[in-house]
Amino acid sequence: MPLVSMRQLLDEAARGGYGVGAFNVNNMEQIQAIMEAARETASPVIIQASRGARSYTNDRFLWHLMQAAVELYPEIPVSLHLDHGNEPATCISAIDLGFTSVMMDGSLEGDGKTPASFEYNVAVTKEVVEYAHARGVTVEGEIGTLGGIEDGHGSGEVHLTDPDEAVAFVHETGVDALAVAFGTSHGAYKFAQEPTGDVLKMDLIEEIHRRLPDTHLVMHGSSSVPPELVAQVNQYGGALKPAWGVPVKEIQLGIQNGVRKINVDTDSRLAVTGAIRKVFAESPEKFDPRDYLKPARAAMQELIAGRMRDFGQAGHAGDYEALSLEEMREGYAAAAAAA
Ligand code: G3H
Ligand code: 13P
Ligand code: ZN
Repeated sequence: MPLVSMRQLLDEAARGGYGVGAFNVNNMEQIQAIMEAARETASPVIIQASRGARSYTNDRFLWHLMQAAVELYPEIPVSLHLDHGNEPATCISAIDLGFTSVMMDGSLEGDGKTPASFEYNVAVTKEVVEYAHARGVTVEGEIGTLGGIEDGHGSGEVHLTDPDEAVAFVHETGVDALAVAFGTSHGAYKFAQEPTGDVLKMDLIEEIHRRLPDTHLVMHGSSSVPPELVAQVNQYGGALKPAWGVPVKEIQLGIQNGVRKINVDTDSRLAVTGAIRKVFAESPEKFDPRDYLKPARAAMQELIAGRMRDFGQAGHAGDYEALSLEEMREGYAAAAAAA
């Protein structure tokens, strides 16, 4: 099937009461790892690319790799999503390239660092929603800001989502999905100790879901930072500090409370790096990239297949037929006319 609208994927997940992992990619091996994990577990899936990933791949490469993925895995519903678009132009260029979903992260200004005003966030997000929905493409917005900085993205400050603002934001912009800040952060160093209810504000998610039952909630910074992956990196010469990520059971609690999209990047990076370091350390005579990229791909596949089972998306690949973006466009137009 062709690339699917993320809205359809998340609507189906809401119907089925499960979450869908959104996994970041930068190269062919990562796309292959995710698609193999999706086939292994019969899962629908979201593949996402950041601005950094788009510039790393020159995004035409990314686009054609995704065409290969849909051709080779016709039974898997897969959406291609832009992660943390920093301004409308970034989202529009992704839509024009063929992404079926974009995130307009107007919680920060265009520099990807300065926390933005609510009014700015509404204005840029609304602009993207108008452009995207007219083409059947999904939009994720963000209200509140996460901690942590990845690749220069992020203010480093945390502003938990205010539920009143979340409600006003969704009504004013018409976003399909909403990223909320409730205590997670990007990267490998999220918490100095196991996060408890004081750190991860699950009650905030519950309240936002109760007040916005038709908006799919998104959990960024959802890597669990498994100690065994950190240990493997360090065993073979890495120097990662010990840290806690988001426990899978907290993500599952989120899924019970309206979280439908779960963003994971750091765990894949750890799996890939640990596998490559192991080959380098144990077989220093090897220099064929396939010798270390194959185990790296396999390690990422294993990690992601596990997450697909944890999030509940496993077994749901065959539940539905993909709607075309034109059908999605008609749906948005009909909903707007009825409002
Ligand atoms: O939220 C950020 C993702 O982990 C992507 O990171 O901007 O370094 O590609 P990146
Ligand atoms: P992690 O750094 O926890 O993997 O989060 C990734 C993310 O939120 C991408 O948008
Ligand atoms: Zn994120």
